[in-house]
Amino acid sequence: MGVLEHVDLQDMNPLDEEVVHLFTQAMRIAFADRNKYVADSDFITVPVEGMLDKDYLETRAALIGENDLGVVDPGTPPGVFDPSAPGMDEPGAGTSHVSIVDRFGNALSMTTTIESSFGNGVMVAGRGFLLNNQLTDFNFQPTSSAGELIANRVQPGKRPRSSMAPTIVLDLDGQVSLVTGSPGGFRIIGYTAKTIMNVFDFGLDPQEAINVPHYQNTNSSSPTSATVLEAPISGVTLDYDVAALESDLEEGRGHAVGVTTLTSGLSLIQVTPSGLVGGADMRRDGAIGGR
Ligand code: DON
Repeated sequence: MGVLEHVDLQDMNPLDEEVVHLFTQAMRIAFADRNKYVADSDFITVPVEGMLDKDYLETRAALIGENDLGVVDPGTPPGVFDPSAPGMDEPGAGTSHVSIVDRFGNALSMTTTIESSFGNGVMVAGRGFLLNNQLTDFNFQPTSSAGELIANRVQPGKRPRSSMAPTIVLDLDGQVSLVTGSPGGFRIIGYTAKTIMNVFDFGLDPQEAINVPHYQNTNSSSPTSATVLEAPISGVTLDYDVAALESDLEEGRGHAVGVTTLTSGLSLIQVTPSGLVGGADMRRDGAIGGR
């Protein structure tokens, strides 16, 4: 979102080719740094403030041009000194998210996971709960091909890097404005960011913001480096001409595009002057949105 603050989205719509291009480029830039610098902060000095620094993000946003950037190298946010190198993870299917605002204005955004369905498949005898499979969120190789240590490598007692993004947006007075989050492994980051953009930049209500088809680019150096467009689901996502957007991005902007089904599970509550407005993601089972 910090990169997107430096581009102009005025007078555009969420499915405009220009918006999809700008959002996927911002994601590439964000994932380049996330993959290099984010890991358990008890083990690694994560340059959180540097990664959010407005001047730094302005220089990063300036990388965005007319054409797809291709794989983006990590930047050098202020405050970094720990040796590390990029790596990627895989999505799973064992996560739930809840967004709550009560009548007193208290807010909760909580994502919980055992990583994949049935976790690691081991039930604790006599206690009735499944053990998680979160260790798969580590990078299994400790070093890059250039021999640099990877921040998110396995170490004893260390937490694996999570993409979970339970989010509470506050207004300038510090009051709760919006609560959201989703399951979806590393795609959570894009699902959540795009939905927040849809509300604040494009003025959509929570259900509309969720229903807009997703688009992402997670800056992977593997063949999945493609920009991913969501295959529309009739009656669930907003209908759109995915083939036209695909060819515009490929021919006009140099993107490699993949079209695929995506299974976000967003929930969103917006606090408005006329009360709470909710939205729920019909791509998975769950609650029903409304006013
Ligand atoms: O913590 C993480 O980022 C992942 N283990 C979450 C996995 C997940 O969301 C699976 N659900 N679809």
